[in-house]
Amino acid sequence: MITAQALRDRARSAVAELGGGPLAVAVVMRRVVRSFAAARGLPLTDAALDSAGLLSAPSVDRPSLDHLVSDYLFPDGTAVDDLVLEEIGYVYEALLEDSSRRDNGAHYTQPELADEIVAHTLAPVASPDATVVDIAAGSGVFLLASARYLASSCQVPTVEIVTGCLYGADIDPVAVDIAKLSLWLLCEDPTLPLTFLDDRIFCGNSLVGLVDPAELPANVRDPKAYADAMIAVALPLGGRPGRRLEEAYAALSRGRRRPVPVVRPIHWALVAPEVMARGGFDAVVGNPPYLGVKRVRDAIGQELRDYLAHTLAGGTTRRADYVIYFLLRAAALSRGEIGLITTDSVSEGDTARFGLGALLDRGWQVARAERSAPWPTAGVRFAKIWLTIRPLDSAWLDGRPVSAITGTLEEGLSLPEPAQLDLEVPLPHGYQGTIVLGRSLVLRPSEAETFARGPLGHAVRPYLSGEDLVRPCGSTASRFVVDVGKLGLEELAEDRALARLVRSKVRAERRRHFVKYPQLKERWWGFLSPVDELYRDAAGLSHVIAFSKHSKHLWPVLVGADHVFSNGLVVYPTQDPAAYAFLASDLHRVWAMRAGGTMLNTAYRYNPSRLRATYPFPVDLAPLRPVGKALLAALDRVGTERRIGITGVLNLVGDHHTHDLATTDLRQAIADVNHAAARLQGIEESLATPDLTPTGFGLTPTRQRALMAALVDQNLTLAETSRTSPETSRTSPETSLPSPETSRTSVETSSTSPETSPR
Ligand SMILES: C[S@@+](CC[C@H](N)C(=O)[O-])C[C@H]1O[C@@H](n2cnc3c(N)ncnc32)[C@H](O)[C@@H]1O
Repeated sequence: MITAQALRDRARSAVAELGGGPLAVAVVMRRVVRSFAAARGLPLTDAALDSAGLLSAPSVDRPSLDHLVSDYLFPDGTAVDDLVLEEIGYVYEALLEDSSRRDNGAHYTQPELADEIVAHTLAPVASPDATVVDIAAGSGVFLLASARYLASSCQVPTVEIVTGCLYGADIDPVAVDIAKLSLWLLCEDPTLPLTFLDDRIFCGNSLVGLVDPAELPANVRDPKAYADAMIAVALPLGGRPGRRLEEAYAALSRGRRRPVPVVRPIHWALVAPEVMARGGFDAVVGNPPYLGVKRVRDAIGQELRDYLAHTLAGGTTRRADYVIYFLLRAAALSRGEIGLITTDSVSEGDTARFGLGALLDRGWQVARAERSAPWPTAGVRFAKIWLTIRPLDSAWLDGRPVSAITGTLEEGLSLPEPAQLDLEVPLPHGYQGTIVLGRSLVLRPSEAETFARGPLGHAVRPYLSGEDLVRPCGSTASRFVVDVGKLGLEELAEDRALARLVRSKVRAERRRHFVKYPQLKERWWGFLSPVDELYRDAAGLSHVIAFSKHSKHLWPVLVGADHVFSNGLVVYPTQDPAAYAFLASDLHRVWAMRAGGTMLNTAYRYNPSRLRATYPFPVDLAPLRPVGKALLAALDRVGTERRIGITGVLNLVGDHHTHDLATTDLRQAIADVNHAAARLQGIEESLATPDLTPTGFGLTPTRQRALMAALVDQNLTLAETSRTSPETSRTSPETSLPSPETSRTSVETSSTSPETSPR
């Protein structure tokens, strides 16, 4: 038996021994395919390959050549019994010269990866009549995976699936032959002619060619020649729509001459008319090539690039990766599902904007995505994406359920962008905490104790950071900071220990920042950004409400007001339970997660200004006060009973095995807050009902989505109202939130019920 690696290595040396070039590759590949056939007991001769026109190799002294190759590949008569069919393609990939691989972006996919893509793509459409295509099929890895998946899930013989469901295309003729032969081998039916997939697997450029039969004039005598000619005249014009292109088409319809294009188009409308007549393939799968923007032009030329940009992407694609043309073509060919392996830059910049973003605008949704994984062999990273045109309840992002996925592959809804509002906001400003700058003013408790005994001891203050907020033992400061910003240097001199610290460590540290922050030169011993407004607004309060700026839970914590708050926190200078209830509600959370903030890995970035500028705030939060008080009491009880901090408390709440009284009460208090906030907002309460499931306590993705849609709806209606009639807009407190009749987005569940709204 021969190992996969040995076979690839030997094939490479056999090709080298034969002097390289396409003939050598064809001869070696023939021998490889025949050995796979032999291992399956299938007859496959050179004569049969010749008459099917597969892996064409002119017959130059074939027997001795064959003998030579055999000796190289299988020197001791070893066989390929154990090797999977996909290995034929990998052998061929090993023979591809670097330049051709570079230009066609060919990296063949491992079977497990193809199986994963295929399973999620085909699950919703699996039937013996489903149609599946891979438009950059290479040696057919995805077609093999699709055949196996459909045969097993529909309990239908593989041969029926291969002949009834599968289509493919590739620009590389050898790859196309290998795909056909691999599928022939998979069927294990010696009576099948080798040409059985000639009308299913095509060689040519998948991106070029007519998709819609209506693009051809009626009653054309030779549709293929005419369609080819249309491409031939459009290509030199870069496919730019306009007078010149129309004239060129008109000349075609008048003249007899049928120019031939320099590329080999695949006219899907002609090669798969029955499929295109039904609106396209049920699924498109594959791993199309990706090439960075700089290499696209070198690989395909400016003319073709322009042509693709105009015919597939509506004009410009600026700095997009080559893969977006395959993505857009896949969408044009599919009437249901798409599952692709692609570059991880599919979610970035122009590639995202003109690719996924454009598809989402046309009604596609990302059903599932994995954003970045290392490619096992090529030192690049890749993403997996699954798109659908079906209505979706929820999606999966990096293995997590989410309500929806955006065109930049972030968690979020593809709802309209919320508008900026100019409302009176019934919540104090949320401030980012103090930027201390550097470590020299930050003290450990033992150091702080020493300084605190000095004459300026009051300047040593507890310093609360994001980590403190979520510490398991409670939200108290673990460090201290010297707040000497308000003092002059002479006053500082009164405290020798402090003065020494400031003059030595602090000055040296701050000096390094003078270039970047010239404002420090004047009062270098102070904080970089003291946020005086925050401490002014918090004066006289015993507590304030703080969020960690980056957090998984986006949960507000009531903390002592006498801290210096680090810039890892966002602080609302209020202790009003009504404000707490609003900030703890899922209404606030879904907004903050999607419209108000951005996702960084698994943590959310909390952005209070964006929330303030866009959230459709009710006029007054006072009705939430009772539920806010109850929630704070319930949180306190669980935290105190168990001596745990907010993270521990939230973990208990989300643990479906925990049912003690205090935790159950807390879950009820959270639900009460949600319901009260929904009522106040004029949104159906059931949308805000949290559930306890094995994955946690909270809103299902469907409810999150519907809640967000309802809020966006309110946002847009408020924006519209203030635009059309500024005098009655919500900047005056009497006007109420939008009613269903005025609602702008059409999400069933987004209706507001004015009767239940207190306003
Ligand atoms: C990354 S490989 C993937 C092949 C196969 N899908 C797999 O995963 O093993 C990309 C394939 O796209 C093909 N290709 C490149 N440009 C193409 C085009 N314009 N039309 C059709 N196929 C193309 C290459 O020949 C290559 O086989």
